[in-house]
Amino acid sequence: MHRVSLWWQRGVIYHLYPRSFMDSNGDGIGDLAGITCRLDYLQWLGVEALWLSPIFPSPMADFGYDVADYTKIDPLFGTLEDFDQLVAEAHRRQLKVLLDYVPNHTSDQHPWFIASRSSLQHPQRAWYLWHDPAPDGGPPNNWVSVFGGSAWEWDAATQQYYYHAYLKEQPDLNWRHPAVQATMLDVLRFWLERGVDGFRVDALRQLIKDDQWRDNPPNPAYHPSQGPYQALRPLYTTDRPEVLDIVAMMRSVVDAYEARVLLGELYLPIERLVAYYGVEGSGVHLPGNFHLLQVPWQAREIATLIDTYEAALPAEGWPNWVLGNHDKSRLASRLGSAQARVAAMLLLTLRGTPILYYGDELGMCDGIIPPECVQDPWEKRVPGLGLGRDPARTPMLWDTSPNAGFTPGTPWLPLAANAQAMNVAVTRDDPTSMLTLYGCLLVLRRTTPVLAIGAYVALAAQGDILAYRRTDTERTYCIVLNLGGQPQHFDLCQVAGTQKVVLSTYLDRADEVVQSVLPLRGDEGVILEPA
Ligand code: GLC
Repeated sequence: MHRVSLWWQRGVIYHLYPRSFMDSNGDGIGDLAGITCRLDYLQWLGVEALWLSPIFPSPMADFGYDVADYTKIDPLFGTLEDFDQLVAEAHRRQLKVLLDYVPNHTSDQHPWFIASRSSLQHPQRAWYLWHDPAPDGGPPNNWVSVFGGSAWEWDAATQQYYYHAYLKEQPDLNWRHPAVQATMLDVLRFWLERGVDGFRVDALRQLIKDDQWRDNPPNPAYHPSQGPYQALRPLYTTDRPEVLDIVAMMRSVVDAYEARVLLGELYLPIERLVAYYGVEGSGVHLPGNFHLLQVPWQAREIATLIDTYEAALPAEGWPNWVLGNHDKSRLASRLGSAQARVAAMLLLTLRGTPILYYGDELGMCDGIIPPECVQDPWEKRVPGLGLGRDPARTPMLWDTSPNAGFTPGTPWLPLAANAQAMNVAVTRDDPTSMLTLYGCLLVLRRTTPVLAIGAYVALAAQGDILAYRRTDTERTYCIVLNLGGQPQHFDLCQVAGTQKVVLSTYLDRADEVVQSVLPLRGDEGVILEPA
């Protein structure tokens, strides 16, 4: 018997970047009506929920992560009516909808910030983080922006600096201020009332800054190739203890509604990440676990990561795993397309909610972005370090029509190179495609609860082989992954009885019976069950 599980524990969350998913009006930028017309695809694929990167009015300095109004839709993406229709159509297909909530900062064009910077006396002055200059007239301390340069911007009119963890066009809100708390929590209620099923919470670790404004210490492990932000340890600017008080407020708002979820963006070491489950369920439901994006792709390293994470989870803490997002190089570019299939099997057979990035199900690689096409402000500020995020944000590939069916206009970013071959229409019916593999894995995960919510048991991590079991009282699957390009053999002595192949990443071994030794091709992953 399985304990009762919730939709966000069982199902897969599909993260899509609205600018790049589907353009319905020909302006070259994806929109809500476009997403709505592609919902059948998401239903067919078998995901549970879609999470949309921000769709709110924004000057787009950071492509929507600079919000100028939290309760409207940017005209680029459509209208509130379009949004309501998207939610209704998604729900009609049993798909949940998550929004991206950006609480750490607003746009500098948000009326709150315009009011705040208008004078020292304005009641909203304290909604943001203003500070007098240091005695030499320079910034108050050494804090740097994630995107490079000082995190302090001088305001000549009022003779103070304001703090921005990201761009100067993204001033940080002062979450210690009760009116900020109340107003921003009302934003959650606004969308919950409109029927959204939850939120991904942006930049959660940044929410509270040290109230003594202490300098961040140097990072002894720093290398310049990591970009200027890594030069300091963000001790006084991120993961402050008080962030959890704010998270608890968000959680209690969301808990007043049934079956909603909070997924926090938290780039933190595991021991700190798990703190965000909070005491007695006062944290986020899913503190985003990005460790698979960073771990060296070796069996022992991954096995240790899984064990460390599983061991660190609090009793009621539900795990989650991420292999790609709009801020990181694409999976197939990081690992190569053959190994990306093994990674897909890993993601969809681990215990915990998988979060899947749009286009990874096709095997999309990073796009090539010529200098004149660069859009991402990070690349513009610190060029040439490979920090730019445009390559992972190129348009979804739908079919063989012009611009892969994404837009009848000029796409805002160039299409990935292999658009003609690697698109939904062409690969959907190809029995060996990456999309077919994702489809099979998703069906298996949906139809066999052991994969979604069964226990995880480590089996082996030797050389290139990573093996584990997923098990419950009804079933046991054994998953064996070859993380390298050379053929391998896996000794089945630890796996009782004759096994048969349920699925291979090559999609060609179903029902093969294996005894004592499982041969694996290079870059092959296999799911076995007792024959
Ligand atoms: C998060 C987003 C990223 C954005 C930043 C600032 O890290 O994922 O895309 O630039 O926050 O909002």
